[in-house]
Amino acid sequence: MALKPATNPEVEAASIELAIDGRTVTAKDGVSLYDVIASTGNNVPAMCYHYTFDPFGSCGVCLVMVEGKKAPVRSCTAKAAAGMVVRTEGDDLFQARKKAVEKHLIVHPLDCPVCDADGHCELQDMAFQHQVTNLANAKQKLIPEDTRSLVLDFNMNRCIACGECINVCKDVLMIDALQFVKKGGFTQVVAKGDTALSCEFCGDCLAVCPVGAITNKYSKYLYKPWQLKKTTTTCNYCGDGCQMYIETNDNEVVRVTSPLSWKNKWGDRAETATGHGGICVRGRFGFQYIDSKARLRQPLVRRDGKLVETPWLETLHPMVERLAAIKAQHGPQAIGGLITARCTNEELYLFQKLMRAAIGTNQFDSSARYGHLNFVHAVQHALGIGRMTNDWEDITKAKAILLVGTNITETNPLTAVRVKEAIRVYKSQVIVVDSAQTKIAALVSHPMMVTPGTEGLFIQGLVKSVLEHDLVDEEVTGKHPQAFAALKQAVARVSLDAIAAQTGRSVAQIHEAAAIFAEAPRAIILCGEGIVRRTGGYEHVLNLVDLAWITGKLGRPGCGVNTVTEEPNEQGAVDMGALPEFLPGQVRFDDATAREKFAKAWGAELPPPGSGASLMEILKRCRSGQIKALYVIGENPLATLPASLEVQAALENLELLICQDLFLTETAQLAHMVLPACTYAEKDGTFTNLEGKVLRIRQTMDPIGDSLPDWHIMTAIASGLGYELPYESAQDIQNEIMKLLPGYYNLGQPRKISPKPESYLANGYAAEVGNRYRSDLKPAGRGTGRRSFTLMMGQLLYHSGKLSTQASGLINISPSSGRLHMNERDLERMGLEESTRVRVTSPKGSLELGVEADLTVLPGSCFFPEHFNEPPVKDLMPVAVDAATGVPYFKLAEVTIEKVSEGGEVARGLSGRAS
Ligand code: SF4
Ligand code: SF4
Ligand code: SF4
Ligand code: FES
Repeated sequence: MALKPATNPEVEAASIELAIDGRTVTAKDGVSLYDVIASTGNNVPAMCYHYTFDPFGSCGVCLVMVEGKKAPVRSCTAKAAAGMVVRTEGDDLFQARKKAVEKHLIVHPLDCPVCDADGHCELQDMAFQHQVTNLANAKQKLIPEDTRSLVLDFNMNRCIACGECINVCKDVLMIDALQFVKKGGFTQVVAKGDTALSCEFCGDCLAVCPVGAITNKYSKYLYKPWQLKKTTTTCNYCGDGCQMYIETNDNEVVRVTSPLSWKNKWGDRAETATGHGGICVRGRFGFQYIDSKARLRQPLVRRDGKLVETPWLETLHPMVERLAAIKAQHGPQAIGGLITARCTNEELYLFQKLMRAAIGTNQFDSSARYGHLNFVHAVQHALGIGRMTNDWEDITKAKAILLVGTNITETNPLTAVRVKEAIRVYKSQVIVVDSAQTKIAALVSHPMMVTPGTEGLFIQGLVKSVLEHDLVDEEVTGKHPQAFAALKQAVARVSLDAIAAQTGRSVAQIHEAAAIFAEAPRAIILCGEGIVRRTGGYEHVLNLVDLAWITGKLGRPGCGVNTVTEEPNEQGAVDMGALPEFLPGQVRFDDATAREKFAKAWGAELPPPGSGASLMEILKRCRSGQIKALYVIGENPLATLPASLEVQAALENLELLICQDLFLTETAQLAHMVLPACTYAEKDGTFTNLEGKVLRIRQTMDPIGDSLPDWHIMTAIASGLGYELPYESAQDIQNEIMKLLPGYYNLGQPRKISPKPESYLANGYAAEVGNRYRSDLKPAGRGTGRRSFTLMMGQLLYHSGKLSTQASGLINISPSSGRLHMNERDLERMGLEESTRVRVTSPKGSLELGVEADLTVLPGSCFFPEHFNEPPVKDLMPVAVDAATGVPYFKLAEVTIEKVSEGGEVARGLSGRAS
């Protein structure tokens, strides 16, 4: 049995009493003695121990005396038992620990002057603490450094064989990429198979290594730890909101480190239910864009067709004058805006205030429109809440998790670690429903790969199964008989056999998944891009709400419906009202009371209800000429949206396109004025993560060049337009938000929200549920013609949007291959090799590209990473717009794939999909 059973809520270990240094201590039977001692505040020296995984017992330093034993015992692997009498101090123990330290030091190279861990090394600390001075018998291992990995170097001369790297990778992350081997007479850490390390490159092994045996290739020999300034902040890549330290030397980012560290080794493993302190590859190795040479350093103004560097003052004045002139001549409805959810809450708030109060338009949108809004609108409509219902702790402790349409280890790697802990420690049954053989699917009890695009149908099958097999919570459904009857009537139209045929799973498997979910006392639904970014996303979320409702999983502790967010502040964008339908606080824009409140607070009349426009409508109005000026902050619609939307024509039709960005993006290249903005490392503010936690970002360094924080630029624009936004700092904006949205700044402790489905179930549900159940639905994205493969675009672990493509560390790991990812069986069947080129054709167009094998891609489908546009695969995608939420769907298409022969001709007669 693991030595940390206290973390399993299903196992209530007996309480025992033991004596530690003369004090009676109560503990759980069988728990690591080390943990019991640590719980008294006494941290016995320990080098291979870390609270996040089971004790390993290799270093021999954590020695204590236990009455009845002749020799000291290793407290980390010893189990606490009733009546134990333990002593943790004494000269005998000091000498025994000193010997253990000497044993390590004697074969250690003592190359501290050139070691990155110098001054941050547990072996140094232990040697100092135990006054190890006599190393007369020192010998060298002389093992050549292993530099085969892309980001980590392994110097096994320095390794103390503590196993922490192996344990964190296997026990916490379930990746299991490392192992010990005996080579050259020494125990060494190598990648599994003793090849170049090929893993998720999260760097958690580097973080827990107590010496300099694993080093970061990107920062090696660049610093001594004490030379670096360390700033605690929140990651700017995904919505998990990991806390991290950016470490800088002068104005240069040297490395990013995590709260997970050998320095932070003491704790109760139960604490890891809220996170283990690690970060992912993007957070740790994707920082180079911050001080990249490609950053914009000066405003650019278009002169004679060219963008020319221009001082701020000479840029802002004419820009504001042109904006003001457009407004004066055509009215505020001639102006629109777009903003990225990588901006802070304070900036998102300010953006909507600038657009509404200073300019007077409600035509603006944020990148939450690309999918998250489907989830928000569905749960707002059905449950009266505007974010996911659970937090990381609920996910970790769930007994059943339904992961539907989420390649979570790629998009939200640290939320994925919560699911992994649920599997490993809390023995959760996990069902994965996905169009790809994802990494998480390989770890769970019930992987259910479905025909691409049929996740939504599978959800309908689950609801049908719950009703058919009487897995219904009658107490909750009995309160709303009319709604329940309407659901039953709607679901009666659905055929499980038809769903099984379309999804590719058997009826028995659908029943099994439904039973696991319905019968678990704590059951969590987690959906992602395969639901919210695919046709019908809004309705699919509502169907998930149905599933949770009829199984009694709404409002019960540890149960609920959840999603993941791709960008760091999509939740904040919604909460701050950076979209036309909501004012700050997710109040509807047409709510008269709220309108009055904000109009008064801002001293301005708000644009009329009904005048707003979201992304797709904004582009349409740009094309039609109604919108004449567009203010784009951090968004790049030209590189994101398919060409069929005529984004270029829309942007070229503008009289004034202002782009405020870190880089000269494709969209910025069309702009009349380009304003250099700061990264999150150059400003203060907050993000709201997917759990609803408001997390601080802190200024780490001076702005690069003449760049300015987005909020600062917005205040200047407003002032030029004659509307004062008198903020001197992000804190000033926060103060205003605090007044208008009391309680929003929750300091990382959001209030628990409880879903309130009553109003929906009593009003409106019965009338609309009928439309949501149709097993004759075509799988999302399918065209009407006969197409052989399903092409999907999505995210890779090593990237986040287009921003990560500016981080050399991530591009080094995952460059743009320009190739189509295909299943090996399809490659073989079609006679395709990695050197072959294929022609991919959809109803929207055709292009040529190379191919590569990808184990995660199912036969009959193919994949292209959405981060890259070489070649522009996105342009093959048909676009549908959700009628309820305005979310554009463009991640899935039916295509044919044909081999291009060497002369460039397309071979005839090749059929893609296996019959
Ligand atoms: S970088 Fe992460 S995945 Fe790779 S070996 Fe280290 S801990 Fe494992
Ligand atoms: S590489 Fe570091 S963490 Fe891994 S066994 Fe060696 S000393 Fe321990
Ligand atoms: S990208 Fe997401 S999971 Fe990775 S470190 Fe950043 S916030 Fe955490
Ligand atoms: S900490 Fe116990 S043996 Fe290493």
